[in-house]
Amino acid sequence: MAVRDYLSVDDLSSRELTDLLDDASAMKAKPDQHTDALIGRHVALVFEKPSTRTRVSMEVAVTSLGGHAVVLRGDELQLGRGEAIEDTGRVLSRYVDAIAVRTFGQDRLEALAAGATIPVINLLSDRSHPCQALADLLTMQEHVTEKLSGTSVAYLGDGNNVAHSLLIAGAKVGMDVRVASPSGYQPDRDVVQRARDIAAHTDGKVIVTDLVAEAAEGADVLYTDVWTSMGQENESDERAEILKGFRIDESVVSVASPNVKVMHCLPAHRGEEISAEVMDGPRSVVWDQAENRLHAQKALLVWLLAQQ
Ligand code: CP
Ligand code: NVA
Repeated sequence: MAVRDYLSVDDLSSRELTDLLDDASAMKAKPDQHTDALIGRHVALVFEKPSTRTRVSMEVAVTSLGGHAVVLRGDELQLGRGEAIEDTGRVLSRYVDAIAVRTFGQDRLEALAAGATIPVINLLSDRSHPCQALADLLTMQEHVTEKLSGTSVAYLGDGNNVAHSLLIAGAKVGMDVRVASPSGYQPDRDVVQRARDIAAHTDGKVIVTDLVAEAAEGADVLYTDVWTSMGQENESDERAEILKGFRIDESVVSVASPNVKVMHCLPAHRGEEISAEVMDGPRSVVWDQAENRLHAQKALLVWLLAQQ
């Protein structure tokens, strides 16, 4: 069987994505039934950026499936001293069964995957965060509705990696995905176009606007992420100024659906992209969302390794 990677949500068909979500729910319900799924399998987890949720949930996912995770920081590998990332992919493929990596440019991720002969998983790049999107959809299934088609999600703030993956994932399952960001901070045009092309086949909808009310009106889910992503720290003052009108606070919640759920991939900056009142209030499902990283990644690992 051909080796499959998970570099972007678009590496999965709509059917594969919904099947994976079903697997994740089943694993979450009965974790004891999956403790030997990865016995004898080794997975390298490479981090070129910091991480709390991804780092811990991936290691626990591999271990709780009976496998072995080798966690590596980029700066402790020869990668940190300039070894080609393709060569790192080639070499790790001789030792382990899958490589999961958090890095900067999508080109680095693709180079690693090109060198590797085993599945490669994107644990966040500057362009996308596809593992996050799996947990996001699982959380919406649990808290909003089991059948996601037609459900509306309004993402407010920086049109970043998390927004990109949400756009593609939402479109794949026929959701109504609305992104409100200021000009210059909207999601990449090619990602928006791709989401629109997918939505045309799934009866989904994709709206990108600079008006918060247009996105938030009646939304079933409000979603945000940090205004300054990893690697953009020197722009943080400017970003805070430009994005300040795109915060999720009580005034935004009041125009959404009366049953709205609020999501954030975390880490959160209360008082910036989300008010403390909303983040810690009754609408927030952020802790379940964070937990779901574990269950979604377990399903992803089992599925990807079964393809080999
Ligand atoms: N949401 C997320 O990916 O968090 P970490 O950066 O802590 O892994
Ligand atoms: N957009 C954020 C997500 C962190 C999980 C970043 O890339 O830093």
